[in-house]
Amino acid sequence: MTVGGFSLRFAVVLLLVCSLCMTCNNVVVKASHQVYPEFQSLCADKVLKQVHRTGFHFQPPKNWINDPNGPMYFNGIYHLFYQYNPKGAVWGNIVWAHSVSTDMINWEELDPAIYPSKPFDINGCWSGSTTILPHNKPVILYTGIDTQNRQVQNYAIPANYSDPYLREWVKPDDNPFAVPGEGMNASAFRDPTTAWWGKDGHWRTVVGSKRKQRGMAFLYRSRDFVHWVRAHHPLHSSANTGMWECPDFFPVSFHGKTGLDTSVVGENIKHVMKVSLDLTRYEYYTVGKYYPQKDRFVPDNTSVDGWSGLRYDYGNYYASKSFFDAGKQRRILMGWSNESDTAQNDKDKGWAGIQTIPRMVWLDSNRKQLLQWPIAELETLRGKKVQISNQQVKKGEHIEVKGITAAQADVEVTFLLPNLDNAEQFDPSWVNAEDLCGLKGSKAQGGVGPFGLLTLSSKHLEEYTPVFFRVFKAPNKHVVLMCSDARSSSLEKSGLYTPSFAGFVDVDLADGKLSLRSLIDHSIVESFGAGGKTCITSRVYPTLAVFHNAHLYAFNNGTETVTIESLNAWSMKSAQLN
Ligand code: FRU
Repeated sequence: MTVGGFSLRFAVVLLLVCSLCMTCNNVVVKASHQVYPEFQSLCADKVLKQVHRTGFHFQPPKNWINDPNGPMYFNGIYHLFYQYNPKGAVWGNIVWAHSVSTDMINWEELDPAIYPSKPFDINGCWSGSTTILPHNKPVILYTGIDTQNRQVQNYAIPANYSDPYLREWVKPDDNPFAVPGEGMNASAFRDPTTAWWGKDGHWRTVVGSKRKQRGMAFLYRSRDFVHWVRAHHPLHSSANTGMWECPDFFPVSFHGKTGLDTSVVGENIKHVMKVSLDLTRYEYYTVGKYYPQKDRFVPDNTSVDGWSGLRYDYGNYYASKSFFDAGKQRRILMGWSNESDTAQNDKDKGWAGIQTIPRMVWLDSNRKQLLQWPIAELETLRGKKVQISNQQVKKGEHIEVKGITAAQADVEVTFLLPNLDNAEQFDPSWVNAEDLCGLKGSKAQGGVGPFGLLTLSSKHLEEYTPVFFRVFKAPNKHVVLMCSDARSSSLEKSGLYTPSFAGFVDVDLADGKLSLRSLIDHSIVESFGAGGKTCITSRVYPTLAVFHNAHLYAFNNGTETVTIESLNAWSMKSAQLN
């Protein structure tokens, strides 16, 4: 018998080996497809009233989830498919679970849409996308793991187009539509993107891959969406980036927040290429130009095409997928936030992984980066509100934001900055934001900052997750660092991954303001700096700062006084989830 490609005998051997090292604290960035045979199929009989389950972030009642798959808007309903282990709280036995919603905040769970059943996907139904074909016909493209454990590309269509929930999907027998050809790596060939249509009458999709350590997006073309031919050259590739998982490729408009259908080309737009790097488990994206005749994407010279490129999120966020929401003419981004605890914890909790709040995404007016913001529908969960305005925060002060449920909250704050003359000098060797945040933290006194929010804080600050800014002076400009530092997030030290996540914020401080929004939800703090220029998601597991014992503070550890121009914080109601 094989389970996710592993024979049972092999699993038993691994079980013995793994149980010997169960005490090892092996929590680092989790490589993909890590198999924990001993936990594969252990059901969580009772998911206890748990302090770390989220209230308004998407998660199923139990078990493991990873990538969002093929999110789409169809006839007034949003569909979210996602990688799911129906049998346990670690990765394995992967199917496409399926939930539907009218607002992307409250979700109803349906039966899995795609599960292993055919020779071309018998060992797993991995990530992919949806495309809405003319006459309003959705199609799923996904990666199947076939009888030979090769990664192959398949398609599936609804069994009944008039079912508003599209519950049942059919996999035609002419699958797979693409197999790893000569010179291609059969275990690095996956995650087909939403297809786009060219004026030459061909559809195009790309599939993530690598050649040696060169990450690449293979391009396929088709006239009928059934027969696909690989183009001679990839749409794009980049040296030394390793396997490109979950590529995403879409146009963005020069003007405003309106989203574009994936097939739009022409003037006044740019294209975005995002890849998820299996080697580091983070994503980067480039903004650039797509040449439809040549079928090539060329990043702008302002976009770094590699490890140090721009990220949607500088924290725990991976395998994201965007789609065009034709209902509201916007582009929506969904992303997976993995746990930062151990596989043993996950098994004990009975669940692992959540989806972040869907974000609207559009091109910044500087045309060099994207902006992201939680969808407005989230605001329907806002309950009791408290406000602070024009309040100074002096060096060393903590101001409590009282009167809301601080473990489940939405906070928006705008700080007025002091004169920036006393900002610390920026050292040009500080190229890595996360290292810099690790070096300086939220306590080391600066000039302008660190200032921001202490989220998920215990009353006496034994535990807290600070989300904050620090402003530096460099020749002719200021450098703004944003951090979400999990190092003091929990008294429990064993086996938690608690990095000092950080990113730089490319913001003009001429108006003397910096804004921050944090969505706090028991074990996640999802933060948006400067209107969504820099986003950071942390997963944290407080032991004291739980439920009503959680507190929220504004703080300043810089010498210069900052002012809260306005702070609005809301208790958040729980979403109806599955
Ligand atoms: C990304 C990923 C994809 C793959 C899927 C398997 O997290 O590794 O590349 O299709 O997960 O679950």
